[in-house]
Amino acid sequence: MPALRLTVLVDNSAPLPTRLLAEYGFAALVEDVEAGVRVLFDTGTSGHVLEYNLRLLGVDPKSVDFVVLSHRHYDHTGGLRRFLELREGKPVTVVAHPRLFEPAYARLRALGGVLRDIGLPYTRRELEGLGARFLLSRKPVQLTERITVSGEIPREWGPTHAWGMLRLHNGELVEDDMTDDMALYIDSPGGLLALTGCGHAGVENIVEYGLEATASKTLYGLVGGLHLLGAPAERTTQVVRYLASKQPRLVAAAHCTGPLAQGPLAQALGDAYRLGGVGFALEL
Ligand SMILES: [Fe+2]
Ligand SMILES: [Fe+2]
Repeated sequence: MPALRLTVLVDNSAPLPTRLLAEYGFAALVEDVEAGVRVLFDTGTSGHVLEYNLRLLGVDPKSVDFVVLSHRHYDHTGGLRRFLELREGKPVTVVAHPRLFEPAYARLRALGGVLRDIGLPYTRRELEGLGARFLLSRKPVQLTERITVSGEIPREWGPTHAWGMLRLHNGELVEDDMTDDMALYIDSPGGLLALTGCGHAGVENIVEYGLEATASKTLYGLVGGLHLLGAPAERTTQVVRYLASKQPRLVAAAHCTGPLAQGPLAQALGDAYRLGGVGFALEL
């Protein structure tokens, strides 16, 4: 029996033959099999894809013990409402950063610079009415012996990935440094497994803080978004070099990593590179 299991439930792509559906967004199920605890990390955009894929995989939404929201963007939080509805009122702890309910905007070059509202599309009251019990924390939150929500990630080791992200400050749109971006740190038998949503906190910060926080000596792997979509080419090169230098056993860069970064990652990481996407699964 594996100690841990991870399954990508929602992603932009379905790169391998699968009956699962894809949509822009991200969600993954992490199971600490030994502890008997199931964690839903992010919820995708619509909730419909999450619902469909959970059903296809035979996972009862009521069997989930914790929901963790990596950050407040709609493509990670949009499925929360439908997920709560599927639980038919059964309460669930939702771990998130205190900035969860702040509005968020983006003006992405890749989208022609149009201003978009990209925050959480629901009110706190509406979600609480459906059974969400919010645990908002800047500090790490340990869910099981092996699974920890990072809390706010210090930016001591590298740049952030928040180009085009905006927030409201005194009625003005200013740059958003996305301090609410959190990761899930999994203390796996082979070392640290980091699960990211969009990876806005920056991959060096996410990994190095994770190694510190879990006292793991090595990076076993990384799964999730690296937000290289729209990144300057030099930054992609830097990220690829950094990841290769950590000699991980696997990297499944998904979601907003963007198609242009996949080639260089595959080339630099060799056997450690995996095609992410819906249905990507790991047993450790
Ligand atoms: Fe995202
Ligand atoms: Fe994001």
